[in-house]
Parts: sequence; C-alpha cells; structure tokens
Amino acid sequence: MTDIQTLAEKARAEVAAAADEEALKAIERAYTGKDGVVAGLLAAIPTLDPSERRAAGIAANGLKQTVLEAIGSRREELAAGALAARRSGEGFDPTLPAPRPSRGSLHPLTRVTRELEDLFASMGYEVLDGPEVELGHYNFEALNIPADHPARDSQDTFFIDPEAHLVLRTHTSPVQVRAMERLEPPFRAIAPGKVFRQESTDASHDHTFYQMEGLVIGEDISVAHLIGAMKTLLRGIFGRELEVRLRPGYFPFVEPGFELDARCPFCEEGCSVCKRTTWIELLPCGLVHPAVLRAGGLDPERWSGFAFGLGLSRLVMLRYGIDDVRHLMGGDLRFLEQF
Ligand code: DAH
Repeated sequence: MTDIQTLAEKARAEVAAAADEEALKAIERAYTGKDGVVAGLLAAIPTLDPSERRAAGIAANGLKQTVLEAIGSRREELAAGALAARRSGEGFDPTLPAPRPSRGSLHPLTRVTRELEDLFASMGYEVLDGPEVELGHYNFEALNIPADHPARDSQDTFFIDPEAHLVLRTHTSPVQVRAMERLEPPFRAIAPGKVFRQESTDASHDHTFYQMEGLVIGEDISVAHLIGAMKTLLRGIFGRELEVRLRPGYFPFVEPGFELDARCPFCEEGCSVCKRTTWIELLPCGLVHPAVLRAGGLDPERWSGFAFGLGLSRLVMLRYGIDDVRHLMGGDLRFLEQF
C-alpha cells in the first residue's frame, strides 16, 4: 500500500515538474505504457497471496487513474500559461512591418465609365444618375413606348410591382426625361449605369449589364451634331479618328433613329471582331422624338435634341477582348485580377 502511495507521490511530483507536452507524454508512457509501472504491478499480481490480489489490482488501477488525472490537469495548466504568455505579447515584435493589406483594382467597367465621364465632361456634358428601380412611366410611357410594344413584355422586363408600376429599368433612356424635367435647356448630359433584362444568358447576353445614355438638348440640333459628337467619342475610346456610317434603326423615342457603325479599329480587311465586315456596330441613336420632349416638359417647336445609347458592357468587351459578357458581373477573381 505504502508502495503505491509513494509511487503516486513520485508521479505527481514528476507531472508537476513537466514543462511541456513532450515531458507529459514521457511520464504517461512510463506509468501507463505497455512496459510501464502499472503494467509491472498488474503482472506481479499472480505471485501474490490470493487474499491480497484484489486489493493490489484496485491499487494499481488507482495509480493509473491518479497519474492520468494529474497529467490532464497539468496539460490544461500548460495551455493556459501559453495563452496568457501570448496575450501578454510574448513573441510579438512591434518593429516588424505590418502585413500588407491586399490591394484591389478598378473593375474594367468602372475604368471605361470614368474615362468616358472625363471625356464628356470636357465637352460640357453633365454626368447624371438615375434610379435602377424605375417607374414604368419613365421607362416606357414617357419614352413613347406604347402599351403593346414588345419591349414591355414580361420576357424582357423585371416587373417589381405592377400595381405601383415599378420595374428594374431595361435601359438608361429613362434618365433622358428625368434630365429634361430637372435641367434648364440647353444642356448636355450622359447617364452611365446598370440596366436589367429578363432573358436567358449566354456569352453575349446577361440579365444585368451597363449602358451609357447621352442626351443633348438645344435649338436646331441636327444629325450633324450627333455625328460630330460620336466622332469625338470614338477618338476618345480608340485614340484616333474613325469613319462612321448611319443605318436606319427604329426606336420609339427617336425620329429619325439610327444604328451608328464605326470602321473596325482592329483591322483593315475584316477580322473576327467585325465579323469580316470592317464595320462594328457601335450604338443606336437619333433625334429626340417630339413626344419625348413633350413628356419632359419641353416645347418641340422650340427645342430639339439628339440621344444615344452606348452599350458600355459591349464596349468594355471590345476594348479588352473579353469573349463572354458574364465575366463582367461574375465576380471571379481570376478574371478581375487581370485588370
Ligand atoms: N434604350 C435603347 C435600348 O436599350 C437604346 C437607345 C436607342 C438609346 C436609341 C437611345 C437611342 O438614346 O437614341 O435598346
């Protein structure tokens, strides 16, 4: 009995002196391992007088228990000590440089938008913003888009609240009428922003993309002004003069309406970007329809204007050679880190 007590004392003292996990493991092995002290005691039991065997077995197992419990609490003690040391700043070197914050970069859409804003601001255009959740009035009626126009189909538009006539704007053109209501003519304005269409997505269609609306209101505004402004736009984007051509195009809010093409900036004989035509479709545009001027509170007898709707997402793709529009809103860092 005293033997066991002495052994237990000795074990406790060893455990108390153990400085780390490794020392604890060694003690555990020495006492409870295959050839340890406890195993030795148990192995000796058959040599004892039968009347003593039971007590000896209990004592040996008690010793094992004692050792394991002592190790357990010492282990907690060591862990608490280590934590306290870390908390008090051990191992912290205040003279080391701070970890570098990771740096982001501007999204290609943001870059091109800012460039265009600077370009148009230098020509006296104001940069306007409009709501992405728009009233049906501005998105459709005020733009002379009649109730049965296919653009109003639920296939094309996210109707948020038909009762309240709220939609996710399908284009930036509603800012035209908002601008007429707010600004004193004559004025020039652009309105870049996000637009939404309810359609299945593929490499050249997404439900969310960017446009930039342009609007110039003045007296005697003609197609010549429109072409002049578009040539400046092209010089800003591609850094040189590009030939342009107009094809007739129908949009209810302009009359006449056009599709404006520019000479392909990437080739002379035709390439994959211009689909071998040497022309790229740049933007739809036209002279503001009198009904739209009236909706904006302007007298069509006095005021006239031109408008254009630049596909910003498309332009960004063209500029950087991006082959899938879905990359733009995808948030994939492997794509974004390239800019
Ligand atoms: N809002 C039209 C669309 O998203 C594009 C457009 C066409 C805008 C002609 C214009 C314009 O300002 O004059 O399809």
